[in-house]
Amino acid sequence: MEIQSVKMAFFSPTGTSKAIIQAVAQGINHDKVELIDLTRPDIRKQALKTTENELLIVAVPVYAGRVPGLLMGWLQSLEANNTPCVCIAVYGNREYDDALLELKESLEKQGCKPVAGAAYIGEHSFSAEDTPIAVARPDENDLKHAEAFGVKIREKLDSLASVGEIPGLEVPGNRPYKAMGGKISTDFIEVSDACTQCGICEDLCPVNAIDYANDIMVDQDLCIRCCACIKGCPEGARSMKASQVKDVAKWLCDNCKAPKEPVNFL
Ligand SMILES: Cc1cc2nc3c(=O)[nH]c(=O)nc-3n(C[C@H](O)[C@H](O)[C@H](O)COP(=O)(O)O)c2cc1C
Repeated sequence: MEIQSVKMAFFSPTGTSKAIIQAVAQGINHDKVELIDLTRPDIRKQALKTTENELLIVAVPVYAGRVPGLLMGWLQSLEANNTPCVCIAVYGNREYDDALLELKESLEKQGCKPVAGAAYIGEHSFSAEDTPIAVARPDENDLKHAEAFGVKIREKLDSLASVGEIPGLEVPGNRPYKAMGGKISTDFIEVSDACTQCGICEDLCPVNAIDYANDIMVDQDLCIRCCACIKGCPEGARSMKASQVKDVAKWLCDNCKAPKEPVNFL
């Protein structure tokens, strides 16, 4: 099957989903690749149209066992015309639950034809020095695995004569998808005197929840607890204070220690 270009769409506040999708793209080794960074609010407003001669790869972090809710608008605006797609869920070593199935079915609904799916492990957004969770994942082995997955995708596409030949893809997950549960408080960030008001956190925030006039203020209604501002602060001025989120981090640290392995579905 002739693929004219590869479109890589990802949402990645703390960079692990981006690292995985880039390794997959390296394995696919196509000379025409376009990055669509859905972490940026302006990019999520742009509807995407794709054809059957393109390959769409979408990578998202798992939030509460699901696709992050703020991506639904973009996903529903996608106009895919029989576009082969690859679905990737990146999770913080607890579980990916129904996220991969939800991503696959959301893309199918818009006209995509899933060729492959995968779940990879990334350092948990809530990981901190005193509550380490899947620290430094994806590691070298994860990235090698993701690159090899890209090679397998290319081989599968090469073995098919047309989009019509893509067989149905099964991925784990249940319907109805996992209930979102009660929203835990977003009042969990502490800012120390080390903050220089440099504004980097404002640019990293995927939902514009940080005040442009005062980096210390976080709009609690907008915050999605992604931790991009904590992990991306060059001064280490932002951290998690005692809070519901910190309690979750402690639980994850105690209960999700055994490193999980990536899985591919082809
Ligand atoms: C609000 C929220 C909910 C999360 N829920 C889960 C989950 O259900 N299971 C899991 O293993 N990891 C969960 N994580 C961790 C992320 O999926 C994981 O850290 C991922 O690698 C982050 O991707 P990114 O680096 O691209 O932002 C959650 C993270 C956040 C911020």
